[in-house]
Parts: sequence; C-alpha cells; structure tokens
Amino acid sequence: HAAEAQRTDLMTITRHVLNEQSRHPESRGDFTILLSHIVLGCKFVASAVNKAGLAKLIGLAGETNGEEQKKLDVLSNEVFVKALVSSGRTCVLVSEENEEAIFVDPALRGKYCVCFDPLDGSSNIDCGVSIGTIFGIYMIKDKDNVTLEDVLQPGTHMLAAGYCMYGSSCTLVLSTGNGVNGFTLDPSLGEFILTHPNIKIPKKGKIYSVNEGNARNWDGPTTKYVEKCKFPQDGSSPKSLRYIGSMVADVHRTLLYGGIFLYPADKKSPNGKLRVLYEVFPMSFLMEQAGGQAFTGKQRALELAPTKLHDRSPVFLGSYHDVEEIKALYASES
Ligand code: AHG
Ligand code: MN
Ligand code: MN
Ligand code: MN
Repeated sequence: HAAEAQRTDLMTITRHVLNEQSRHPESRGDFTILLSHIVLGCKFVASAVNKAGLAKLIGLAGETNGEEQKKLDVLSNEVFVKALVSSGRTCVLVSEENEEAIFVDPALRGKYCVCFDPLDGSSNIDCGVSIGTIFGIYMIKDKDNVTLEDVLQPGTHMLAAGYCMYGSSCTLVLSTGNGVNGFTLDPSLGEFILTHPNIKIPKKGKIYSVNEGNARNWDGPTTKYVEKCKFPQDGSSPKSLRYIGSMVADVHRTLLYGGIFLYPADKKSPNGKLRVLYEVFPMSFLMEQAGGQAFTGKQRALELAPTKLHDRSPVFLGSYHDVEEIKALYASES
C-alpha cells in the first residue's frame, strides 16, 4: 500500500538535498553539510521558541547571577553563526543581528556566503505567534580573497534560499533553484520530513497582506491597489485581509494559499522596512521558484543590486496574477 510505504520510506531533508545535488556532483557533499548545519540551527531555535513561554519559570529570560539572559533573537544568532562557521563550508556571513559582515577564519573557510535573519518577527515572541528564520545562500568565487563586494550581489545570483517557520508545527521551506519543497519537523525523530513536495503558488489569490496602519503614508499605486482589493470594480469578490506581522508566517500563508504580501514604501520609510539581503531576496527567490513573482515598485526584486549590507527595499510578492496587477498600477503612474 502506498500509505504504508510512505510511513516507512521517509524522505528526510538531507536525503532530498543529496538527491537534488546529484545534478552538481562537485558540490554535493559541501552543500549538504552546509544545509545540515542550518538545519541544526533551526532545530535549536524551534526548541528554544517552544520553551519561550516558560522562560520566567525555568530561567531563560530575566536575570541570573546578575547577568542578563540573552534575548531569543541574540541567542538564535549566536547559534547560527557558530553552526555556520563550524560547518567549514562558509567564508562570509551576513546577519540581521550583526552590523558588519562576519569573515570566517581562513582555516575554516568554505565557498559559501550565507545571509540570514536568525529570528524574524521577534515582536511576536511574547504572545506565542509564529516567527521564523530566513536564509539565502551564494557561492563565492574566490574564498581566499573575499570582500564586501562579493556579498553585495543581486538576488539573481542566489544559489538557494529558505525559511523555517516556528508555528503550530515547525516547517522548513527550501529551494535550491529547482522548485520549492516544504519539510516538517517530526519532533520524535528530530528530522525534517518532506511533507510539501514541489510547492506551486496559486496563479491568483483571495488574500492580501499588509500593515494597513501605514495607509496614510502610502504612495498612489499601493493605495489604489489596496482599494481595489476591498472594492473591486470588475465584479469579482473583495479579497480577505490577513496580516500576522511575521514575514515568514505571512509569506508562508501566501505561498500555500495564494494572494499577495506587501511591504511598500511610505512617506516615513521611502525604502520600506524589509532588508534586501536576508528578507527580500530569499523570499523573492522562493516565490519565483514556486511560480509567483516579487516586485519592488520599480523592478523585479531579485534584480536589485544592494550597495550596503542592511539595505532595505519595498516589496510586493505572491501570486503571479496579483503581482501583475500591482506592476500595472506602478507602470501607469510613471
Ligand atoms: P524583525 O523581527 O526581524 O526585526 O522583522 C520583523 C519584520 C517582518 O517579520 C514583518 O513582516 C515586519 O517586520 C512587520 O512590520 P510592521 O510591524 O511594520 O508591520
Ligand atoms: Mn532583531
Ligand atoms: Mn527580520
Ligand atoms: Mn530578526
């Protein structure tokens, strides 16, 4: 029986990536090792997030021995940095939590650059709402001569990207440039198992996702688009609004159910809020790999060329058709 076969033949994330990488035999082992260190970081954060509500009780937060306990995002960052460095497969790291890029000690250097947000949506930790980790991976040409320039590449050069969502279940969504796959952590095995093979985003969705509290500062096209979502003039039904305030959770829902996620520019934040290297690029890469689109208001998001590590950009991403609509509004404006 197929159902029984599924239960005994588990497609773990490692097995899946090894299969996929057989297309690139030269980097098969290296990429798999890198990924297993990222997965370790995700498992650590998943376990820490699960205990976050108990923090006061078991001493995960507050003061111990006069020393302030580390906040979850700082702790997660340390775990990821150490896991990535010790993989021996990275040469430079960019983290939301570190002002400067981290250049790995030459003795431990490998060929990959990883840009990541160790804990995204941190304002949602204390109320138990889903949060996540986001990562993007590049290959560096010459690991012995790596500079900041090597990190400031357009998203089209990205090799792989993913996120892990710490929600009602722990889900890791990954693309190595050959479609998108979702894996769910089986806590009893401690393994991510393939549960969402070959994710394709619906061509058109019924949900829009945006912080509408910023509406008075939006530009014309964003205002018009959201107005259209609520009061469509073509006889279609209005869209539903869903906004969690954790990019990972909002993008995950958009990927599975379809629709559009917007973090537009506004008068107060002319570049929006989300950071190019470790928020906009990885999510745009996943959206395109799933058949959707990601747009900045001016161009395809992956074609941005960041000039600073923590550059921000507006972003509109999701179902192909929904992003087409916002592109048309920006085109008619200019
Ligand atoms: P972070 O917690 O890493 O600083 O990022 C939070 C981000 C992102 O997860 C989310 O989409 C966005 O902030 C929400 O911002 P608003 O509260 O402005 O809507
Ligand atoms: Mn933070
Ligand atoms: Mn973030
Ligand atoms: Mn963060």
